[in-house]
Amino acid sequence: MGADIINKSVYEILVEKFTSKYGAAPEIVSYAPGRIEVLGNHTDYNEGYVLSAAINYGTFFACSPDSGTEGRLTAGDIGEEVVFNAASPEPTVKHMWSNYVKGVLASFNAVSPVPHGFKAMFLGNIPLGAGLSSSAALEVSAGMAFASLYGRDVDKLTLARYGQKAEHDFAGVKCGLLDQVSSIFGKEHCLVWSDFRTFDVKSVPLGDDVCFLMCNTHAKHALVDGAYNERRQKCEQAAAYFAAVLDHNVTALRDVSWQEWLDCRNDMDPVAAKRSAHPIGENERVLSAVDMLRGGDLAGFGRLMFESHDSSRNYFENSCPELDAIVDAAHAIPGVLGARLSGGGFGGSAVVMVSPRDEKIVSTALRNAYANKFGERCDIRAIIPSDGAHLVG
Ligand code: GLA
Repeated sequence: MGADIINKSVYEILVEKFTSKYGAAPEIVSYAPGRIEVLGNHTDYNEGYVLSAAINYGTFFACSPDSGTEGRLTAGDIGEEVVFNAASPEPTVKHMWSNYVKGVLASFNAVSPVPHGFKAMFLGNIPLGAGLSSSAALEVSAGMAFASLYGRDVDKLTLARYGQKAEHDFAGVKCGLLDQVSSIFGKEHCLVWSDFRTFDVKSVPLGDDVCFLMCNTHAKHALVDGAYNERRQKCEQAAAYFAAVLDHNVTALRDVSWQEWLDCRNDMDPVAAKRSAHPIGENERVLSAVDMLRGGDLAGFGRLMFESHDSSRNYFENSCPELDAIVDAAHAIPGVLGARLSGGGFGGSAVVMVSPRDEKIVSTALRNAYANKFGERCDIRAIIPSDGAHLVG
């Protein structure tokens, strides 16, 4: 079944569930996709570069105005509803899923309090915990629907920031803007190239000779969010060190070259040195990769993906045995161009770049290799770079 058909059925199920719960069809429906990160790991909050793509899986958010002050929000998959004051949403520990929506709504309220309540329900098909940014898809789809519901003119970057703020203030993850930007700016058959200092975002056409596989390990290691925040803090510590010793302006690791890192690494805090190697190397890899893509050098692009994973494994230590197993197996399978972990790390998914003609054979080989090692199959899906968030209908 094609991606459009799968997504259409999610949409239809959502409208049906919404109508039966709230007594009438929703007035507004929005859609936001998840994302894969192709190169540029942990570079976004270091003001660096990323190549990513919006994917063919996403979240629909349906809502209608309500005359009272209550926000009624239902998670369509589990049928749970939370009710709160739409003008003063607070984070909760009981229904964690609602924090992503409440956090976005808080940003609308910060501009000016919303004048009335709403009924809302969301439903998606992004596998949860797979590192495909289901939370960003929920934030972005909710933000787009609220902008329409309350007649607010919210530009795309501001919408992304609303999502990021929900993660920071309501979910406790000090993430960058990559997930939300990819979900909003995605374009069919293109990668999204983002510069997280200037916020320049461009589409880079991929051509027909390449596609991606997402291999969801289902691994979720303890302290994922804490480890993410700790990595970020070490990068900031390293940036402060470079700012003190280099004779040019450094406000983030984006300003530090690989050569400068080589020159300074032995004098720095060893953990900060190790961690900072990763985003510094990644920035240089993203810039080279764009040139390779433009020049049709897919093999070179793929090699950079393998290098990126090695850097995660050795310097940033955000990989895990399950992700390493996929990337190592991919290395040995003919037809694979590149492979690496995608997103925060510590579990989740690896992204594998293949030529479309090898997609099936590579998927089978990867599944078998994983099953031989861990006794269970990993979930492998074909990823089609897709358009970004939009209102539906
Ligand atoms: C997660 C975060 C992003 C980014 C990636 C790693 O997906 O939400 O902001 O930092 O990890 O590149």
